[in-house]
Amino acid sequence: MRRAYGVRIMNSNHPEIRRLKREGNVAEIHGNKFWNSSFLVMDYLKKNPLRKRVRVLEIGCGWGLLGIYCAREFDARVTGIDADENVLPYMALHADVNDVKVTGLKMSFQQLTVEKLKQYDVILGADICFWDEMTGLLYNLIGRAFKAGVSTVMIADPCRPPFGALVEKCRKKYGDNVHVEEKWLTRPVHASGEILIVRR
Ligand SMILES: C[S@@+](CC[C@H](N)C(=O)[O-])C[C@H]1O[C@@H](n2cnc3c(N)ncnc32)[C@H](O)[C@@H]1O
Repeated sequence: MRRAYGVRIMNSNHPEIRRLKREGNVAEIHGNKFWNSSFLVMDYLKKNPLRKRVRVLEIGCGWGLLGIYCAREFDARVTGIDADENVLPYMALHADVNDVKVTGLKMSFQQLTVEKLKQYDVILGADICFWDEMTGLLYNLIGRAFKAGVSTVMIADPCRPPFGALVEKCRKKYGDNVHVEEKWLTRPVHASGEILIVRR
């Protein structure tokens, strides 16, 4: 177990993680571990905090540590969605060890309708734009989110091409409402990338 940004993160060989794997919770779309881009957003939010009790939706949450960070730091009301239900027990386990409550749902980006998105103020995601088709899925989701009244969408990535394409599409559509934050971290790990921040 390590601790970063005030959040406890279990290593892949932690007995509780191994137990969940043994019980058959095997991630199928790369949600098999905690990915570093979440640290880029945590670092940004540390300096640019969210308001208290904000309603956060973490998309492609995997182990859900970005949402859990928001629950701890900002007392945020957090929901994590992921297309792969096998990741949700890992999110629940981390919520427990971090002493926060979060809601985990099996749901894809495509299933997040305007109606469902009305429940959230901020959407966060990390390492979720790695296949070409994800560019369009996330671009459309951002459009629905703004229709629903979501104020801000933040997506972090180590700058893979599908993410670069998403940034370009958002710049064209949302102009000055797009900010791209470049990040280089040396602690708690070496990590670099960008955060696409789109405001309504
Ligand atoms: C690389 S992992 C990142 C997990 C987590 N965000 C993190 O930073 O540790 C990508 C996650 O996105 C999920 N995912 C992929 N495609 C998705 C889709 N269309 N809708 C919802 N979740 C999706 C995967 O199941 C996986 O958990």
